[in-house]
Amino acid sequence: VGRNICYFDTISSTNMEAKRIALKNPEGTVVISEEQAKGKGRLDRNWVSPPKKGIWMSMILKPETEPTKVAKITLLGAAGVNKALEDMGIYSKIKWPNDIVIDGKKVCGILTEMSCELNMINYVIMGIGINVNMDREDFSENLINKATSLKIEQNKEINRKELLAGILNRFEEFYIPFKEDNEISEVIEICKKNSALIGKKVRVIKDGETKTGKALDINNEGQLIVMFEDGSIENIFSGEVSVRGL
Ligand code: BTN
Repeated sequence: VGRNICYFDTISSTNMEAKRIALKNPEGTVVISEEQAKGKGRLDRNWVSPPKKGIWMSMILKPETEPTKVAKITLLGAAGVNKALEDMGIYSKIKWPNDIVIDGKKVCGILTEMSCELNMINYVIMGIGINVNMDREDFSENLINKATSLKIEQNKEINRKELLAGILNRFEEFYIPFKEDNEISEVIEICKKNSALIGKKVRVIKDGETKTGKALDINNEGQLIVMFEDGSIENIFSGEVSVRGL
């Protein structure tokens, strides 16, 4: 991963560009930009991506697996970012399935998109956005309570190149066993150990309906196990829900 890099000073969205070039480029290609004019978040939100202050990148992946397995790839990315940060002495938590938080505030979001045909994946685009050296002024008033940057949390500038290299290496370390043997046990361990949700009250929004419960665990398939207030226990697949800590 990252042996082929498409670098931009500015672009609308690295995910959009990655989708555009996915079929013509090898697996592991990384699209990265100093700035995004129209960074995309989940649920059609926008993603603030000011120049040279973050890591805004998308990886092109071509796993030979069925579309249902794609949710696991987001966890590989989350574990990769969490571990790469830890390697630099920065301790974060994984808010299953696609956010990395520090002190309850979001520093990184992952947006995984895929193209498939006849139950086979053509390609997966995993977009990772990390608020690295953003200052408080870079966040709007309604974001500052929910989002933060590594610089704000650590009180110092963080080396973006070092972090990027760390993420690509860690991700690759997790992606190879997944691709070859469908093996994700190390990733699940990391997601459990550093979970921001396990043991906490959560709100699960599924098909427009909101239910409250407690996150119990993450199973070997990477699903979040939640016990709802009526006592029922469900395995939650990512993608179909939005989970919020309470
Ligand atoms: C989220 O809503 O939490 C996901 C945010 C994903 C943002 C990243 S930044 C790089 C890539 N390109 C985009 O347009 N979005 C993702």
